[in-house]
Amino acid sequence: MPRPVGTLRDLPADLAGKRGLVRVDYNVPLNAGQVADATRIEASLPTLRWLLRRGARPVLLSHLGRPGGRPDPALSLSPVASALADLLATEVLFSAPCDGGDALRASRQLGTSQVLLVENTRFLPGETANDEALAGRLARLGDFFVNDAFGTLHRAHTSTTGVPALLTPSAAGLLVERELDALDALNRPPRPFVVAFGGAKIGDKIALMRRFVERADLILVGGAMANTFLRAQGSETGTSRVEETALDLARSIRSAGGERIRLPTDVLVLNRSGGEGESVESVEVDEIGPGMTALDIGPESRARFAEALRGCGAFFWNGPMGLFEDPRFAGGTFAIAEAAAEATAAGAFTVIGGGESAAAVRRAGLLDRVSHACTGGGAALEYLSGGRLPGLDALAERRRP
Ligand code: 3PG
Repeated sequence: MPRPVGTLRDLPADLAGKRGLVRVDYNVPLNAGQVADATRIEASLPTLRWLLRRGARPVLLSHLGRPGGRPDPALSLSPVASALADLLATEVLFSAPCDGGDALRASRQLGTSQVLLVENTRFLPGETANDEALAGRLARLGDFFVNDAFGTLHRAHTSTTGVPALLTPSAAGLLVERELDALDALNRPPRPFVVAFGGAKIGDKIALMRRFVERADLILVGGAMANTFLRAQGSETGTSRVEETALDLARSIRSAGGERIRLPTDVLVLNRSGGEGESVESVEVDEIGPGMTALDIGPESRARFAEALRGCGAFFWNGPMGLFEDPRFAGGTFAIAEAAAEATAAGAFTVIGGGESAAAVRRAGLLDRVSHACTGGGAALEYLSGGRLPGLDALAERRRP
């Protein structure tokens, strides 16, 4: 990790009995009060094991969802504590709220091999406001700080930037190191460098996509992102999801990228205009009618996109090609996952950037056949497009003499 940020190996040799305040990203999907996907929890284990092996006492901070600065029982980290205890095979204590006397006492009473997870930091309004007083209260929970929340490095919040400003020493965890090493390899990618964008969250992403126009040899666009590009060029998109506020940006990306931007030529739609209930149909993009919702790329586009990956030197993928959670609309996403696995086998460096795409590749059973799967799409995009990661900057600042 050639950047001015300390790592775990830069921490003092004797950590026995010291409380390591670790910012993790346990923003995981929950279902009926249970962790539905533990990928992010699993990704934090190497750092936690590293600390436990040295006798340190990990105290964990994380957000979950966007509760807006108020406690929301549906977004409690309590189920995460149980899942972590199982995965780490050690006792994980839980304390609510994340700051205050109880959390402080629990951190001081931690015994050997015990871990403390405190409640969702976003239950307090000061978290997203990067509040100094809250940073002070949280910093008291540790003797040193580790940021291993790769997926949250692009947020300048109290637990990511305020705490390391107060707590020395501070270091990046093993997950952050691993993620940045993989993304750094894409800074001078083997060519051709192919990028695919999809998914339903367009707002934040499309502005970052603009920055890839100069860097990538080919940009494949699917999912709701493609609908926005199709609408921007004047096509009918029926009842498909479109980001109306991004149409000008889509037009400017299209004109800057020219032939390097590839949109689907056909899509799978849910057609409700037939009068006999709904049906799934494959149509050319210029046949999308008013009662149709595009929910996947079509067979011809799958083949074209897969062909574009053949022989690529590097591939970065952010966002599924369709509503892959519904098996009727999973084919396009799985075809790209398969093409990425084949490209990896042929020697390409392939990075899956983000939770949804990684979940899709996992569902396709191909996660171990790509070079790297990032645990944070937003942070990966920000970093790769040349933006700042405040969580990383905060660690670098602590290191300056
Ligand atoms: C993520 O899931 O991308 C990270 O946990 C950050 O969450 P946020 O977008 O709510 O800040």
